[in-house]
Amino acid sequence: MTERLTIRRPDDWHVHLRDGAMLQAVAAHTARQFARAIIMPNLTPPVTDAAAARAYRDRIVAALPAGCDFTPLMTCYLTDGADADAIAVGHAEGVFTACKLYPAHATTNSAHGVTGIFALAPVLERMQAIGMPLLIHGEVTDRDVDIFDREAVFIDRTLQRLVRDFPALRIVLEHITTADAADYVTAAPDTVAATITPQHLIINRNAIFDGGLRPHAYCLPVAKRERHRLAVRAAAVSGSPKFFLGTDSAPHVVGAKESGCGCAGIFNAPFALESYLSVFEAEGALDRFEGFASEHGARFYGLPLNTGTVTLERVATPVPALVGEGDTAVVPFHAGETLEWQLVA
Ligand code: DOR
Ligand code: ZN
Repeated sequence: MTERLTIRRPDDWHVHLRDGAMLQAVAAHTARQFARAIIMPNLTPPVTDAAAARAYRDRIVAALPAGCDFTPLMTCYLTDGADADAIAVGHAEGVFTACKLYPAHATTNSAHGVTGIFALAPVLERMQAIGMPLLIHGEVTDRDVDIFDREAVFIDRTLQRLVRDFPALRIVLEHITTADAADYVTAAPDTVAATITPQHLIINRNAIFDGGLRPHAYCLPVAKRERHRLAVRAAAVSGSPKFFLGTDSAPHVVGAKESGCGCAGIFNAPFALESYLSVFEAEGALDRFEGFASEHGARFYGLPLNTGTVTLERVATPVPALVGEGDTAVVPFHAGETLEWQLVA
């Protein structure tokens, strides 16, 4: 049995670090595990221009423990008013790594999102020309579409056309949850990739209703039925360079989750690598973990691989009921469980 695993330092290609006191509370968890992370821009107000992204990047760096070697990669939140020139300048200046498409009202802080992506053709054409990736929250927002079908319907109605109309645009379908998405991405051109969260590898929709309503298992896209979880797991461990690590760690204070209208989001940053590794081990795919965690994403983004390594050991690791204290206490993914691995260096 493998007792110790050393891999190239990994990256998180999708994370919510928030702002203010919550940023102070959570940033170190991500920075301890990952060398770089793609930072989601859904703040209030959203990060829609380079000046805001620069200022947010500075706040992230200031929130890190001293001596920490972590690079936040910033994203631009697309709105109906997005301007191709401004985005291209932000990209050229090294502020924006990618743009994020939230369909308006799809999820947390997406009210300023895009109401019709094809109206942004000039922006997409420019991104395609300069090699700037488009990161997509892939769900339709139509209330008539069943919430468990919204990802599959988005692929049919929107993603296929985007890929056809912008054949050189690099697209990441974020946090995939369905067999439909895994199959679509696998068959799509090499310009299309996907991130996968730990929760969508580990829980299915039963977890949200397990003996009662479980707000800490609720995120968007919502977990689907078991056959979808198995398809997403198969994609993650397949070794395909189209699938890579993106935690979608999304902290909300306990009161915002345990509420009459609880927020979507699972806070998985403190034990993300341990969580993913348990999946790769169970699937007999330890040899494919490094590709998923540390190589496929960087290659897709055209960024250098990290130098240095991290090591995980087989050590029983209890996950606390709460991480952080006071106003920023958050219930982590796996709260109260014991994980089998521990990040040691
Ligand atoms: O569950 C989610 N939480 N999904 C998202 O798309 C957004 C995120 C958040 O910001 O809380
Ligand atoms: Zn997210």
